Amino acid sequence: MGTKLIIDTDPGIDDAFAISLAAVSADVDLLGVTTVFGNVPLSATTINARRLLALCGRPDVPVAAGAERPLVHPQPFTAAYVHGADGLSGLSDTLPEPTRELESVDAVTLMVSLLEAADEPVTIAPIGPLTNIALLLAAHPGIREKIARIVIMGGGLDFGNTTTAAEFNIWSDPEAARRVLVEENVPCVLVPLDLTHRCAVDYEWLEKLAASGGVGGALTGLTGSYLKHYPKALGREGIVLHDTVAVAEAISPGILKTERYPIDVDTTFGPSRGATVVDRRRAQARAEHPEGTTPDNTVEVAVDTDLDGLRAFVFDRLSGSR
Ligand code: BDR
Ligand code: CA
Repeated sequence: MGTKLIIDTDPGIDDAFAISLAAVSADVDLLGVTTVFGNVPLSATTINARRLLALCGRPDVPVAAGAERPLVHPQPFTAAYVHGADGLSGLSDTLPEPTRELESVDAVTLMVSLLEAADEPVTIAPIGPLTNIALLLAAHPGIREKIARIVIMGGGLDFGNTTTAAEFNIWSDPEAARRVLVEENVPCVLVPLDLTHRCAVDYEWLEKLAASGGVGGALTGLTGSYLKHYPKALGREGIVLHDTVAVAEAISPGILKTERYPIDVDTTFGPSRGATVVDRRRAQARAEHPEGTTPDNTVEVAVDTDLDGLRAFVFDRLSGSR
């Protein structure tokens, strides 16, 4: 029945598009959604995830709540200034009320039971801070073999968005991100800001989606806070649906072009805390001075895509035309 998927999320306007993209896709077996603190506090991200699944008509998808704060150090601030105080431009309570109870178990417990029950490896798409995923891998090392890929929205090669150097999801819990990306031997795809910004959608794309009605129409109605923030961040009209780009890769492997690089995450307290340090030197140059090299661990980094093709892929599914 298509890609088996678990989404770990902190909705979040772009998370809303990303969850919906998976939830309306007939070729995706959405096993569960787990929530994490991030853009706004955990209580808000959890009710948002449940309402979004109600919007998409998916009472079959279980939701479990996970970490309410980072592993070691506090998150300095949320992204309510980007997403609104409730995470959805102040409009979360205009969505349909949840049609399924919140799971009584926590996010890690739900992930373990879904992974153990799956008859083939499962893709996990973390689109918030990596706290739940670090806890999963730390507490259940044997579960790795049930994971096909972890497709992560996070990091930046050439710039950050929360600080000069750091992207929000990694910056929110750098220790968790380092555990997943550097310390664990599990296949990861990192979808960084450099690519998500290039996939920005313009007002015409949004207006057409609004006119399509249904799920896509409802999602465009939630973008008010984003529409205030992104023209300033981008320097042009449009919004960036970061998490949707990562979920597109999770459900359609290869839609993004990737390159394999060594990676580290800055967990120090200098100006680069939370930065993803991706070693893009040529392998031969690295080999000349191995002592100056990042850890051995490598990840697939998404570097390019057919930009219009990606936008059409997302549009067609959210508008119901595919
Ligand atoms: C990431 O941070 C959050 O604000 C978004 O939901 C996305 O996951 C982009 O940096
Ligand atoms: Ca997110």
